[in-house]
Amino acid sequence: MAPFDDQFYQPPDKFFPTHSGVGLTYDDVTLATLYSEVIPRDANLDTQLHERLQLRLPIISADMDTVTESPMAIAMARAGGLGLIHCNMPERQQLSEVSRVKNNVHGLIQEPIKIGPDQLIGEVLAMISDRRFGFSTFPVVDEKNTLLGLLPGHVVRERYATRKVAEAMMPRAQVHTIHERELGREPIKAADSFFTARMGIHKLLVVGDGDVLRGLFTLSDIEHILHEHGSHFKPARDEKFRLLCGASIIGLRKADGTLDRERIIGHAGALVERGCDVIAVSTAHGHSAGVGDTVKLIREAFPELPIIAGNVTSGAGVEYLAKCGANVIKVGQGPGSICTTRVVAGVGIPQLTALYVASRAAEKCGVTVIADGGVVKSGDIVKALTLAQAVICGGLLAGCPEAPGQIMEINGKLYKQYRGMGSAAAMTAGSAARYGHSTKDSTRKVAAEGVEALKEVSPPVELVLAQLSGGVQSGLGYLGSRDLPTLRKAARFIRVTAAGQRESAPHDVIEVKSTK
Ligand code: XMP
Repeated sequence: MAPFDDQFYQPPDKFFPTHSGVGLTYDDVTLATLYSEVIPRDANLDTQLHERLQLRLPIISADMDTVTESPMAIAMARAGGLGLIHCNMPERQQLSEVSRVKNNVHGLIQEPIKIGPDQLIGEVLAMISDRRFGFSTFPVVDEKNTLLGLLPGHVVRERYATRKVAEAMMPRAQVHTIHERELGREPIKAADSFFTARMGIHKLLVVGDGDVLRGLFTLSDIEHILHEHGSHFKPARDEKFRLLCGASIIGLRKADGTLDRERIIGHAGALVERGCDVIAVSTAHGHSAGVGDTVKLIREAFPELPIIAGNVTSGAGVEYLAKCGANVIKVGQGPGSICTTRVVAGVGIPQLTALYVASRAAEKCGVTVIADGGVVKSGDIVKALTLAQAVICGGLLAGCPEAPGQIMEINGKLYKQYRGMGSAAAMTAGSAARYGHSTKDSTRKVAAEGVEALKEVSPPVELVLAQLSGGVQSGLGYLGSRDLPTLRKAARFIRVTAAGQRESAPHDVIEVKSTK
């Protein structure tokens, strides 16, 4: 960059210190362009939040009860991002939501759900309903995991409830299997060829020596995966080829106000058992003993597990949570579209300044940062990613069909509910879910810090994310950055005045088609 440019367009470590004492947010700044050889669609949006948590798209859906349950988390992971399943529901239900994501589409299902020959069909039906399985065909094995047969879905019916699995199953000789040795280096290809050669067969069991069950392929999963190869997005998957999924936890307390250690560890353990890839300990005030002690408990019990914790807006807050064992720190107090923390408590920091301060502390502690709240357009994401490794979105996704809640029509327009987790309604729902009724909840705040709102219905997540990621790739193109680490090094900021903000959006025209 020419020295004269340098005087006006400054890198973060020069820009933010010269604006110390002023809280800046996304619209207060703009980024300066740089020489580029990068074609936007080639810009790489992979991001690493932790060595065991890599995303192909740096966007995470918020752990809010009007944003992320399994349909949203599945859509997010399929697009390369991540969904954090909220915890404003009974623990058992949250575990089922995580299972739905982890069981969504596999390559080889390495630990298929199995049943024994002496079980009753009625027990199988109860298991399906209990764990909310969306399938009803199960391999039948003995206690040594040797394959005995396959229980087909069409006999798993109430009318056969008292019959034994052994009576109803397809015997071993008729079950289609492949030896694990035959899968070679490209198991998906092997399964694809198998299904093409055997018309009408939907399940292929994998066995090892001694006919021990090693896994299961389903035709629909294989078709999904093959379809993905041509898709715009690359899904975020774990090492077993399952979609990534996160879930949030709160530091539950006993009636005497102390942390309920057993329940917290039990909850985290159950999530890990279901395959949850990351646990988020989310509260409005993360630089607090309650959050720190909860993180410490989980860290001691699960040394390898990626933990997200927050929310903070100071370097001291980042250091504290990192010391307690968190790997990824959520930054944001009051920027959210449904937040009233700044109005109610008079507390919080405009998001970009908070991100700068937190990101510099995070670098020193070896943790990463997520920008949480206040993102309303793709340009905000580009600005956030100059300082953070990913963003969390609530409002931008709450109108999608994959978000929980019904569509309602008001004056001919379609809306979905979107509410703050600190709103009175969400706090009551959360207390009821956790304690059976609200009066026992000693953690609940007296004054609400969020509003209940509506969002206009928006297109499916895939389309919303295609728009957002396209915008972010454009940003990288303008800054000559092939990937996000390069963007973080390349970014140069300048402050924008109120007139500059007006100039930045469409003006002095009558819009006939908005970009929404
Ligand atoms: P956006 O702007 O994406 O923000 O809608 C989502 C984020 O807002 C936070 N959040 C709240 N903050 N009161 C608050 O002050 C609330 O009731 C509340 N509920 C959610 C949260 O960090 C979320 O990811």
